[in-house]
Amino acid sequence: MSPFRRNPWFETVAEAQRRARRRLPAGVYGALLAGSERGRTVDDNTAAFADLGFAPRVAGHHGRRDLTTTVLGVETSFPVVISPTGVQAVDPQAEVAVARAAANRGVIMGLSSFASRPVEEVCAVHPNVFFQIYWSGGREVMRRRMERARRAGAKALVATLDWSFSQGRDWGSPVIPERIDLRTALRMAPQVLARPGWLWRFARAGGAPDLTAPNLGAPDGAAPTFFGAYGEWMSTPPPTWEDVTWLRQEWQGPFLLKGVCRVDDARRAVDAGVDAISVSNHGGNNLDTTPATIRLLPAIAEAVGDEVEVLLDGGVRRGGDVAKALALGARAVLIGRASLWGLAANGQAGVENVLDILRGGLDSAVLGLGRGSVHELRPRDLHVPRGFAVTLGSGPAAER
Ligand SMILES: Cc1cc2nc3c(=O)[nH]c(=O)nc-3n(C[C@H](O)[C@H](O)[C@H](O)COP(=O)(O)O)c2cc1C
Repeated sequence: MSPFRRNPWFETVAEAQRRARRRLPAGVYGALLAGSERGRTVDDNTAAFADLGFAPRVAGHHGRRDLTTTVLGVETSFPVVISPTGVQAVDPQAEVAVARAAANRGVIMGLSSFASRPVEEVCAVHPNVFFQIYWSGGREVMRRRMERARRAGAKALVATLDWSFSQGRDWGSPVIPERIDLRTALRMAPQVLARPGWLWRFARAGGAPDLTAPNLGAPDGAAPTFFGAYGEWMSTPPPTWEDVTWLRQEWQGPFLLKGVCRVDDARRAVDAGVDAISVSNHGGNNLDTTPATIRLLPAIAEAVGDEVEVLLDGGVRRGGDVAKALALGARAVLIGRASLWGLAANGQAGVENVLDILRGGLDSAVLGLGRGSVHELRPRDLHVPRGFAVTLGSGPAAER
């Protein structure tokens, strides 16, 4: 390798993001950045982790630390799950590259129903895939999608229900084309030609990014376009709690409800029979000004942590963030953008790089906190500033 060529390895997720920004066409980078309205929630998700301090111990550390755990009965080498993200056009190998990286590092992968690769292809390279579903298309359609994911070998279902089609970002939204035809290619030429490396990767892999959602197709039918699938979702009446119970029962296997922010919702999820919840605000992409998930975690973990597995996603960029979430009651965390930045920066190896960064950072935190295992992390390992934690949906104010 030329001594002037950049080392493909990066040392932080922040550097992966910088490389993603340099490598991706502006519109694709903007779609990953996402966020909604003012961007207050997306910012608070990361800022709140920085507001939590560590309380390190000076001696009596453990020479070996156990980072392993299980999520919904599936073993993982450390408590980080790849969160389902529906994005196309980042890398030609897309979700298959992410799945290979997750398999190599021994972690679970969540696969979005809006993914660009079929669930069968992804499950073929990784035995531990959780399939994510939105409430879209009605019961019959969803039953079929679940059956397909089950047959492909998905180990659990992730139901994501926290989406309210909010529109508009103060910093502007990227234009996402319906499909890449000649006209679109010409319109996007300036931003694409400014990223020749990205263009070359897709050209070598056989062509333009596929902007379809193959896991949402009709049986044996063509995959709908991303917007076609989005339209079906928008026109489906939103689910009731009875629908959640139905979905849970229909899946039969391990079931995770993603998007819980309130204590009363967490309790209702338990009543609906879920096995796990993720305290999530959809990475700041749902209702802007929802508080950071790490602020919401302690009250929810306290309320239902003995009954279901409590996970968290939103703002995790460092291994230390993982340790903080575990100390405040999470069993594991999910990462969205961090893995996407890694994928954009260096494909499969970039996702592995991100997972190695998180694993290393978590191990350092467990070491410095004088713990022997991730299961021993406790709130007293942290400095939690006064007023940090927020409880939503509890007490008289939460009554309807
Ligand atoms: C670009 C993008 C696409 C996403 N697509 C999905 C999706 O298809 N399904 C889903 O359940 N969550 C989706 N999410 C939310 C993530 O699963 C996760 O909740 C969020 O990214 C966590 O925050 P983080 O990015 O700060 O880690 C998406 C998030 C982003 C940023």
